[in-house]
Amino acid sequence: MERGILLSEDVIEQINYDNYSDFESAMTDVKLGEEQFFLDALTLSKISKLKQKPINIQPNIQISAIEINNQPQIVSQQSTALILEPPLEDKQGIETLNQESEQEAESSAEIAAALIEKYEVKLTALQDQDSQTSKQNIPQIQDPTQDPLRKVKVLFSYCGESKKRYVEDFVAHFNKRYEAIKKILLNRQELVNLLSINKILNKKEKENVSIIGIVMEKNITKAKNILLKIEDTTGQISVVINKTKPDVFEIAKNIIEDEVIGLAGFNDKDVIFANKILLPDIYPRELKKSPNQEYAVFLSDIHVGSRFFLEEKFLKFIEWINGNMGSDEQKTLTKNIKYVFIIGDLVDGVGIYPEQDKELIIKDIYQQYSVFTEMISKIPKEITIILCAGNHDASRLSEPQPILSGEFVKQLLELPNIVFVSNPAMVNIGADDTFPGFDILMYHGYSFDYYISNVDYIRNNGGYDRADLVMKFLLQRRHLAPTHTSSLYIPDSASDPLVISHIPDFFVTGHIHKTSIANYHHITLISGSCWQSTTTFQEKVGHKPEPARVPIVNLQTREVKVLRF
Ligand SMILES: [Fe+2]
Repeated sequence: MERGILLSEDVIEQINYDNYSDFESAMTDVKLGEEQFFLDALTLSKISKLKQKPINIQPNIQISAIEINNQPQIVSQQSTALILEPPLEDKQGIETLNQESEQEAESSAEIAAALIEKYEVKLTALQDQDSQTSKQNIPQIQDPTQDPLRKVKVLFSYCGESKKRYVEDFVAHFNKRYEAIKKILLNRQELVNLLSINKILNKKEKENVSIIGIVMEKNITKAKNILLKIEDTTGQISVVINKTKPDVFEIAKNIIEDEVIGLAGFNDKDVIFANKILLPDIYPRELKKSPNQEYAVFLSDIHVGSRFFLEEKFLKFIEWINGNMGSDEQKTLTKNIKYVFIIGDLVDGVGIYPEQDKELIIKDIYQQYSVFTEMISKIPKEITIILCAGNHDASRLSEPQPILSGEFVKQLLELPNIVFVSNPAMVNIGADDTFPGFDILMYHGYSFDYYISNVDYIRNNGGYDRADLVMKFLLQRRHLAPTHTSSLYIPDSASDPLVISHIPDFFVTGHIHKTSIANYHHITLISGSCWQSTTTFQEKVGHKPEPARVPIVNLQTREVKVLRF
């Protein structure tokens, strides 16, 4: 404190009697400015390395879900960690310094201090970008949704205000989710004698009852039956699903924590013996077809900046969409492409996972977006591009991720044909006086890893090769990340933006790095491919992405083709 250095919790926890002298020596001549400096373990380890005063501490990086591109994700508060990776010039500076540091110990400390200041400035910049997006917004030059010829309307894009969240916000958030999904389930006629849990608990007689509740716990009993603890706004009750009822038991096997379900059965004291489980699910609906000959193209996971980015193939795609290659039939087709969706991970990002810098060819986030913009600007301007952030983009990781904004994407904002939306978002395309258009639900897919790992049915039927199974699973639950731990999220007390209240015509995602196409009750499910070859980590764990594939939909026939580049 005396020296204006505020130690983070991870530093305090790890500095002890054994390494205190190393710590002191690493910090001895670090010169700081007048303002207080927040020292976390990652910065300290960089300083100690820089000054060749090694200190044995571990940056507090929590590794969570493994993305399909198989990079461990940093999920602690560290969107902040993201920025601590110095820009390329500094990196070079560090290398030079290390070579000469013995002779120039004093100047090394000064450079260390300068670097810290730089980190601090950038750290603050990122925090601002995260928490005060609106303040830093650079207005878009043109809004393509205002051009009726483009036929693109944003039905939902999250723009909730940035503010501190409290425990009550989580409670309100879950209540809103419960109410929204309950409303859907109330349409189910199978829920006879629907009662609140407290009324069932006070019942003396046994009779057929139904409840709508949120799954708090799921366990297997000694007799191999499934035991659920269900909660609604009035109380909690145990529900037994007997293995002798195979139809119900099969559904119960895939029930996950925190999902909202309907249950019908008979009560006995404070237990319900279920004979029906109802998921909110999607009801069958008509397959809409456009009266116009129009095409939509779906991209995701471009990962510009990664040394595995397949630039040549991506430029080939750009050539193709400009009608400069392919058969005559394909050239005609490209003239009718009206929409390109990019569902997250436009760039590889910086500091997304430990030692990512070794796998980056562009180590500066601004530069990554600049190269991305340059390539995207070559897509004909008559085509409207609708894009959202993914977990590699310069945005907070918590969902809903706001629209990309600020200095990072300044050049992108200048393009006249880009529609920025949040992740998730709902967009309508192709509507005119005679046709309502198609509603497209966009979601990058960060929660998918959890369901692939934790739902037996998905894991045993293809796992990472079957994004469509995850998409169907989520549609049945009417939520993009029903389990609390499946994704990071902002608890919004006004509504849960990840509830799928409105049934889309298309559900489109990315993240899995492998194309998958399916149809569920006339909803077209599309998982985008990627433009990144197999990374070291993916190779290690045996994941096999399929890059450079492009799903293209004929909106007049709803036929989907996948092109390979
Ligand atoms: Fe990705």
